[in-house]
Amino acid sequence: MAKPAIRYVCQTCGAAYPKWAGKCDACGEWNTLAEDIPEARPGPGGKGPSASKANTRKLEFVGLEGTAAPPPRLVTGIAELDRVLGGGLVPSSAVLVGGDPGIGKSTLLLQAAAALARAGRRVIYISGEESVDQVRLRARRLGLSDARLDLASAINVRDIAATLEAAKDTALVVIDSIQTMWLDSIDSAPGTVSQVRSCSFELIRLAKHGNFAVVLVGHVTKEGALAGPRVLEHMVDAVLYFEGERGHQFRILRGNKNRFGATDEIGVFEMTDMGLAEVANPSALFLAERRGNISGSAVFAGVEGTRPVLVEIQALLAPNAGGGARRSVIGWDSGRLSMLLAVLETRCGIRLQGHDVYLNVAGGLRVGEPAADLAVAAALASAVSDKPTHPGTVYFGEVGLSGEIRQVSQAEARLKEAGKLGFDTVCLPRRVAGGAARLTAPEGIRLAEIGHLTDLVSEFLVESNAST
Ligand code: TYD
Ligand code: MG
Repeated sequence: MAKPAIRYVCQTCGAAYPKWAGKCDACGEWNTLAEDIPEARPGPGGKGPSASKANTRKLEFVGLEGTAAPPPRLVTGIAELDRVLGGGLVPSSAVLVGGDPGIGKSTLLLQAAAALARAGRRVIYISGEESVDQVRLRARRLGLSDARLDLASAINVRDIAATLEAAKDTALVVIDSIQTMWLDSIDSAPGTVSQVRSCSFELIRLAKHGNFAVVLVGHVTKEGALAGPRVLEHMVDAVLYFEGERGHQFRILRGNKNRFGATDEIGVFEMTDMGLAEVANPSALFLAERRGNISGSAVFAGVEGTRPVLVEIQALLAPNAGGGARRSVIGWDSGRLSMLLAVLETRCGIRLQGHDVYLNVAGGLRVGEPAADLAVAAALASAVSDKPTHPGTVYFGEVGLSGEIRQVSQAEARLKEAGKLGFDTVCLPRRVAGGAARLTAPEGIRLAEIGHLTDLVSEFLVESNAST
């Protein structure tokens, strides 16, 4: 077999090139290409896909019908985590937990591991980043020292494999982190694409073989990509991202891919002195610091996965005399903000030129739904006119380019959550004749249906409300 040629692989996106270059054409990053020796492809019998016929066997096809039992679950007891997983960990599966350094991945996984160990399951926690003493110190701080889990500090995947093959009845193995793991058969440093990929492949193979769940921790770069292994996302069964601002106490665990459950579920945690505490009622938490009667604030009735979540959208306009106005967004899509600003200017005659625009989703949540358009528009209109929105109102609805307000899904759940948190008015898209199912407002909730953004601009700021 010919010696595999050296190639150069981008450490950010995994694109491969025959020659070195300063910039990766695939993702546009600079200085990310590193030497990489492709692995020999393990075909049947370890030779190659076209190797000896004696080792091949014909596939047996089956029909689509048949009984498929739902996968059994390992329930950690941390409800926010179990829900994002789709009901708990699945044996033989691999889960990637990504997030910025310092966001709390190790803390969360140590808590989950300890919970399972306390429930009598065998759990192995391998740290490649911290010494055994450091992990013990954290466990003591979290009050978990009594949980009987098997802890080791190691980075050599060959040692880990030998250990896991001998460790029967293991339910869960946590690898913290995949970027520190190392296989001696590969000629590059830990954290490079080829190491991360090969180590993951081996660990996932062990999990399938040993019938345990494996959780791989992965760090994310500043740009938001999983450092090195984009490829890794395809290899695992579920990808969860742990998000939040380090200075903030809230942490959001977000499902990004899940072969065993719905994606887009979120789990909400609060980082405390005693580790991560579950937040059962995120809306109350996200709205806790809201101050009424301030312009530029509107409450959005959102849905994350199956869960309604109310959040405050804040907008601020600051005069900018010198051209080149700034648009700064935290927690929402900046392209979407530009679109809304254009619609407000063109269709509603709101002048925003000469202003810097700042938009913030309070509490550190990242909102991805277009349904937030209406709340963002309300916050902006309120900021422009310097009049507060009605304090008892929540907003949801998508805004189209002509300024029309469009229907969004799960209206019922949004209404219910608004009612639960004491709001009295919901501003939402006008229902079209022959449209979807009838909406019934919960008791004490007034539905303010609007068809066009101009209705919002003229009607929903407190002053005009008072005058009607
Ligand atoms: P950690 O789990 O080490 O983050 P990661 O594994 O994602 O890098 O969390 C580190 C941060 O969390 C650290 O800055 C301290 C803080 N922390 C608390 O606030 N309370 C706690 O109980 C613990 C264990 C950590
Ligand atoms: Mg860590």
